[in-house]
Amino acid sequence: MIPTQAAFPAARFRRQRRTAALRDLAQEHRLSVKDLIWPIFVTDVPGADAEVPSMPGVTRRTVDGAARAAEEAARLGIPAICLFPYTDPALKTEACEEAWNPDNLSNRAVRAIKAAAPEIAVMTDVALDPYNANGHDGLVKDGVILNDETVEALVKMALAQAEAGADILGPSDMMDGRIGAMRAALEAQGHPDVAILSYAAKYASAFYGPFRDAVGASGALKGDKKTYQMNPGNSDEAVRLVARDLAEGADMVMVKPGMPYLDICRRVKDAFGVPTYAYQVSGEYAMLTGAIRNGWLRDEVMLESLLGFKRAGCDGILTYFAPEAAAVLGPAG
Ligand code: PBG
Repeated sequence: MIPTQAAFPAARFRRQRRTAALRDLAQEHRLSVKDLIWPIFVTDVPGADAEVPSMPGVTRRTVDGAARAAEEAARLGIPAICLFPYTDPALKTEACEEAWNPDNLSNRAVRAIKAAAPEIAVMTDVALDPYNANGHDGLVKDGVILNDETVEALVKMALAQAEAGADILGPSDMMDGRIGAMRAALEAQGHPDVAILSYAAKYASAFYGPFRDAVGASGALKGDKKTYQMNPGNSDEAVRLVARDLAEGADMVMVKPGMPYLDICRRVKDAFGVPTYAYQVSGEYAMLTGAIRNGWLRDEVMLESLLGFKRAGCDGILTYFAPEAAAVLGPAG
C-alpha cells in the first residue's frame, strides 16, 4: 500500500511538522461545523426544562426553547438538529399511541423549528421508548418485544413526523424490516423526499445511560435492550445490517455509540462508501465533560474526539458538543 517510502535521512517526517502552516498543508482530515448534528431534548412538563444531572451543560428545552436552539444553530452554522422528547409520564402507555399523535411534543417542536429557522434540517427519532410505559423501543407482550407489530407502529410514527415537516427520519429502534416499511409508506403517502438516516449498527450499550435520564426512560425500562440492539462483540454483523438497511432504502447510515466503535465506522465507510454518521452518545459526552469540568482533561479533548470520527471515515457526527464545538470552529463554509 505504501509504494515509495524513502529511508532516513531522505525522509524526515518532522519536516512537515515544523510549523503550523506546514502542518496545515499536510493535514489529511478536518472537522467543520458542517459535519455536526446537534441532538436536543424537548419537554412540556412544567419544571422539566432543566439541566440533565448526568449531562452537565445539556438542558431540556420547551418547544419555544427548541425554536431558539434552531436559531442558535443557524447563527453558529450547524446544519441540523435532532429532536428527542421527554414525554409527560401520564401520556406513556403500553400501546404507545402518543408516538403517532400529529400534535405530540416532537411534532410540535418540528413545526416550531421550521417556523423559526427553516434552513435548519430537522431530524426526528423513530422509536417507541419515549412513549412506552415500559421504556422499550418496541411493543411488549408477555415480556417479549414484538417485531412486526412494532414496525407497523413505527410507520405511523414516521408518517406523522414527515407530515410535521421533518427532513430526516432517524429510526433508532433496531426492529427488522422497519426501513423498507417506512420507505414504502413515505413513497405511497406523498413524502418521497424525506430522508432516512438509519441507526443501522446500534449496539446494546451502557453508554446510553445519561440519555435515558434525559428523556425520562431510565425508571420505566424493564430489563435490557439486548434482543434488538447489537451485541458489542460483533463486527461482521454491523456490515450486514448496513447492507440490509441500504437495500431497504436508507439514504444514510449510523454507527452508535461512537468512540468505542470507530472500527465499525471505518469498516462501513470502506465497504459501502455511503453517507456514514456516528453518534457520540450521552455517556461519551458525560465522561469527557466530567473529566473536563474536574480539571482532569483539557477541553481540547472535545475537538480531538470529534476529529477522530472524520479520520474513521464518518461524514458527520451527532454530538451534544455541537454548539460548543461550533463556537470554536467558526461558521465555516
Ligand atoms: C432510543 C434512543 C437511545 C438513544 C437515542 N435513541 C437510547 C437507547 O437506545 O436506549 C441514545 C442516545 C444517547 O445515549 O445519547 N431509541
